[in-house]
Amino acid sequence: MYARSAARTVSQARAFSSSASRQTNVTVLGAGGGIGQPLSLLMKLDPHVKKLNLYDIRGAPGVAADVSHIDTGSEVTGFAADKLDEALDGAEVVVVPAGVPRKPGMTRDDLFSTNASVLRDLASAVARVSPKAHLLIITNPVNSLVPIASRVFEKAGVYDPKRIFGVSTLDVVRATRFLASVTGNDPKNTPVTVVGGHSGDTIVPLFSQSSYGKAVTGEVYKKLVHRVQFGGDEVVQAKAGAGSATLSMAFAGAKFAGALLRGIAGEKGVITPTFVRSPLYLDQGVEYFASNVELGPNGVEKIHPVGPISAEEEELLKVALTGLKQNIEKGYKFIE
Ligand code: NAI
Repeated sequence: MYARSAARTVSQARAFSSSASRQTNVTVLGAGGGIGQPLSLLMKLDPHVKKLNLYDIRGAPGVAADVSHIDTGSEVTGFAADKLDEALDGAEVVVVPAGVPRKPGMTRDDLFSTNASVLRDLASAVARVSPKAHLLIITNPVNSLVPIASRVFEKAGVYDPKRIFGVSTLDVVRATRFLASVTGNDPKNTPVTVVGGHSGDTIVPLFSQSSYGKAVTGEVYKKLVHRVQFGGDEVVQAKAGAGSATLSMAFAGAKFAGALLRGIAGEKGVITPTFVRSPLYLDQGVEYFASNVELGPNGVEKIHPVGPISAEEEELLKVALTGLKQNIEKGYKFIE
């Protein structure tokens, strides 16, 4: 959806159309949950999906039976709690929204103890059964769980940093939508780049790089940044104990998975922010970072630098890097 289609050359477009039929096997782990169910529905609608395997420790066969009646091309199968390996057999893309969500008053970091174990165990199974799969981590805290999954793959001797992604797309979706609320622009083709990580002040929206965003200044700008960084809290509070963002997250997860599937199918110029192993701030001890990434058959094809940013954004980035370093170390500590 973020394809720079206008910039695509005629020859690239021809190359794309000849390979657009490439379809991919997708497995959703946590398919019975608040995110998992609508995400499974949206993946069933994606024309690039060949087989859709739905797994959860609770309820996946029911979700699969329901979704499987939708008249699109993919074949849907549900897997019960003891069928994880079967669910991963042949998977090329694995999307993970398994784990517990936040309740009012909790930060994403409060989820760490439960979700770190869930993610470690699921990543171990992926590394064993489908080691070449692209792993898309939605479960929070993303900033710590991507390092954990990376170490699990490393220990299993199958680590390819180009294939493990933290899904930070909801931050892009929110920044783009919230900016539109302020400026009145159509958000459809004007995505805001969001870099850093996925929690609180590690989220850095780059409004200065948006033709609409750069006009927003002063108090309005400050409020807008705060809303993007803490937008998840609005949903947690409004749901009053019933969980966190599920529908907008399912949309964002399907948007990111869809972008990767288009890249895998050979489309060029599919570029969107995602949290990956990154060289950009390695000199400051930050091994993982979200920035614009070009997606393709090998996963991460190219990591784009952050580019020119405003003085305010420089300050936000400094804070983000400090937080990220701590979150990443916490993940590593757990897995050592
Ligand atoms: P939920 O509780 O509704 O669903 C989670 C599902 O995971 C449940 O069906 C549960 O049975 C399943 N599950 C738990 N352990 C499992 C395991 N070992 N194997 C397979 N399935 C397992 O929670 P919800 O609202 O769907 O949220 C899921 C996660 O997504 C949470 O960690 C939440 O913080 C995160 N999230 C991430 C966002 C992002 O932007 N990356 C945005 C919103 C939520």
